Amino acid sequence: MSHIYPLGGGKGGTGKTVMAANLGALIAKQGKKVVLVDLDLGGANLHTCLGIRNPEIGLNQFLNKTCKKLDEVVVSTSISNLFLVSSANCSLEIANLFYAQKLKIIRAIQRLPYDYVLLDLGAGTNFNTIDFFLISNEGLFIFTPEPTSIENTARFIRAVYLRKVKQVLKQRAFFVIVKEIIANIKKKNATVKSADIIEAMMEEDPAKGELLLERLRAFGFKLILNKFQKNTDEHLGEKIEEVCTRHFHSEFQFLGNVSYDERVRDSVLSNRTYATKYPYTHTVLNLQTIADKLIGKDQPVYDRYQAYHEEI
Ligand SMILES: Nc1ncnc2c1ncn2[C@@H]1O[C@H](COP(=O)(O)OP(=O)(O)OP(=O)(O)O)[C@@H](O)[C@H]1O
Ligand SMILES: [Mg+2]
Repeated sequence: MSHIYPLGGGKGGTGKTVMAANLGALIAKQGKKVVLVDLDLGGANLHTCLGIRNPEIGLNQFLNKTCKKLDEVVVSTSISNLFLVSSANCSLEIANLFYAQKLKIIRAIQRLPYDYVLLDLGAGTNFNTIDFFLISNEGLFIFTPEPTSIENTARFIRAVYLRKVKQVLKQRAFFVIVKEIIANIKKKNATVKSADIIEAMMEEDPAKGELLLERLRAFGFKLILNKFQKNTDEHLGEKIEEVCTRHFHSEFQFLGNVSYDERVRDSVLSNRTYATKYPYTHTVLNLQTIADKLIGKDQPVYDRYQAYHEEI
């Protein structure tokens, strides 16, 4: 079974695409077969970070049924073991996927025959982005030290939990109770949060509430602080990890800081992957440490994946 790592975070420009390309390259260098899937539908640019100008084939051919399997629209990159599914050649309306198209993509991603599948997601908290993030239980939140990025990441995390809670309860036919709970919260003019639903569910039916908590505890989300600079609080990542673990019902793991380096932009301009062009920088060392954690070099790999389609 492949390891699927969606890269999200809510805010634009935090480095999700750069991170997908470079972590993918570093994992591929370890001899693992890696595929990157560009799921920033409407804003696809992962191919550019990999130095591919116009991918001749991609998600479009899978959606329009020219190719039956997602694996047929995979293209090679200049790095051995590293492959790409691009969405650059999709229609301009691709960002507004139909539900059936979304399911088709999700199921096909779960079947991709690679060791590691990295999903580059767009900014924002729309349902498509959240559902792609929830393909696996081990999503990566990429954020930067700016307060706006931290704020948007917190919103993204809350949106992920709310969506998951609703999915689990929908699947288990608890939805009538949930509808009532949500209506009561809305009556008080309050924002609906996963924590409120869980609390109300525990009061209403503790056994079912416990089942719900069990599903949330299966999450093993990870945090990466990108564009780390000299004046950044060196414990910021750990603090956010601690706050998230306390507030949500799952354990968060801070994977590390990735230093700011002007040459990241420069490598994109020169159509090369940063980690390949500047392999000996501090930033690549940071990325290598994170890549090692992702492939479980430093810890046992737990099987946290669950069949997503059961819950959608
Ligand atoms: N560690 C870094 N140091 C310096 N610049 C960086 C770093 N990481 C990313 N960048 C730069 O930040 C910009 C945004 O990066 P990127 O496109 O990867 O963000 P994104 O999160 O994918 O954005 P979007 O949400 O719009 O897709 C790019 O110009 C990139 O070169
Ligand atoms: Mg991007």
